[in-house]
Amino acid sequence: MVYTRGLGPRAERRGGSSPLSGTNEIFRVRVWRPPKPWRRRISIPTKIIVLPARRSRASLDEGGSPAPKTNMDMKKYFKQYIEAVTNPLPEMADYFDLENHYLKDLVSIKKDALDVGCGNGRNMKFLAPYCKEIVGIDYDRRMIAAAKRNLEGVKNAKFLQANFFTRRFPHNYDLVFASYNLLGSSEMLVDQGLSVLRRMVKFTKPGGRTVAAVWSDTGINFARKYYTSIGITVDTIKGNNVITDFGIFRRFTRNELHKMAKGLGKSHKVLSLTPLFYILDIEV
Ligand SMILES: C[S@@+](CC[C@H](N)C(=O)[O-])C[C@H]1O[C@@H](n2cnc3c(N)ncnc32)[C@H](O)[C@@H]1O
Repeated sequence: MVYTRGLGPRAERRGGSSPLSGTNEIFRVRVWRPPKPWRRRISIPTKIIVLPARRSRASLDEGGSPAPKTNMDMKKYFKQYIEAVTNPLPEMADYFDLENHYLKDLVSIKKDALDVGCGNGRNMKFLAPYCKEIVGIDYDRRMIAAAKRNLEGVKNAKFLQANFFTRRFPHNYDLVFASYNLLGSSEMLVDQGLSVLRRMVKFTKPGGRTVAAVWSDTGINFARKYYTSIGITVDTIKGNNVITDFGIFRRFTRNELHKMAKGLGKSHKVLSLTPLFYILDIEV
């Protein structure tokens, strides 16, 4: 139990890593203060109780609940991400190239695309000349600013600084994709990956495709080299979870991806363009 002073009664906050367990679980901190008559007579310290977050799967699926705020240093995370995509390791550069070409084959100048968690718009920049319109959504203002700079003058590119869990779209898209392990990123709780995927399918036109690229279990040995190269410290690797000073980054197995897609009742395939990533491609 943690004891503290100074916070008002009933104060509650949400955060990323639990200060007690050191895990990536979302937690609520409720401050308990002794009733007033006691406080007048004796000095009892305020008690902070750490509880699991109150979060309903249903409301997430409805898009009614925002993604949990983490206590990650987003400025640092942004710098590390930019480093990873602008000076990629050769293995990453190879993968990025193959991924872009895979996505390119799913669009045409008559089709539109939505990039979920677009980051600096690296996929958007490659795909824009081949699409009717491409929209990038990212909740981080630095990412959206970087994407706008990256695609300056690209007329068919649009940007939304918004949370994908809560944002509604006026129409659906031919291609909805999320690259670079959004489903298993440290910003997602374990079951949120599936919610993202479900929402991606929801905003895909009938006959369109939902595509998610995720780190694969087969590339787990690359994790230390990769994170070290961008200044993230790997604490331990437990199964397919890479535990770092920036939270837990998940790797997926083929079976997990098949199971997720089957749960959505859609036909799909899982591809491995290089040993590092899987691509889950769902026909909607
Ligand atoms: C690992 S980066 C990938 C960026 C880009 N897709 C790429 O491949 O280079 C994940 C991105 O998703 C964004 N993101 C995470 N959760 C989000 C959410 N709920 N809504 C919108 N963006 C989100 C982050 O801000 C980050 O830019």
